[in-house]
Amino acid sequence: MPERPYVIDQMISAKSIAARIEELCDEISKEFEGTDKLIVVGLLRGSFVFIADLVRELDLPVEVDFLEASSYGNSMESSREVRILKDLRGEIEGRDLLVVEDIVDTGHTLTHVMHLLESRNPARLKTIALLDKPSRREADIKADWIGFSIPDEFVVGYGIDFAQRNRNLPFIGKVRFEE
Ligand code: PRP
Ligand code: MN
Ligand code: MG
Repeated sequence: MPERPYVIDQMISAKSIAARIEELCDEISKEFEGTDKLIVVGLLRGSFVFIADLVRELDLPVEVDFLEASSYGNSMESSREVRILKDLRGEIEGRDLLVVEDIVDTGHTLTHVMHLLESRNPARLKTIALLDKPSRREADIKADWIGFSIPDEFVVGYGIDFAQRNRNLPFIGKVRFEE
């Protein structure tokens, strides 16, 4: 449970997210056109909503797998230590991969995961993040596709949590603490 009371102000509506996903999926479907070996890899837990909407909008044959990485725990601050809590189920050597993140903040999570996946020699390795917070970046990484670039606000919803809560909000909101 978060310790201080807070309210959530809507920042990106469910409708805007859906419209942006349609655009992104057109581009991704073109990029991977003709593939028969694509695996869409969701980084748990944050990406579970985004990946569900994304794969249903892709005009490609896909397999879906998940990897669980965690660096924040219940804190608002990145620990900078990324832990792999659950590995992929399948082999990825020679496969096309699209790694799906909800948000790239300091960039440590995605960097760590990309190093891990690269070492397994996929044929192609691409990344998509719904949200990007470039002002907070500490690691030199950028997703190949980005839904929205946002300012340095603590956001929740559409899979993203604050101390494990609010992942079920259908929109992206920002957390505002009450005095
Ligand atoms: C959050 C978010 C990203 C990561 C981004 O995950 O879902 O995976 O942090 O932060 P970074 O760029 O600073 O590394 P978290 O560790 O909270 O785990 P969760 O997805 O289970 O909520
Ligand atoms: Mn995450
Ligand atoms: Mg989290």
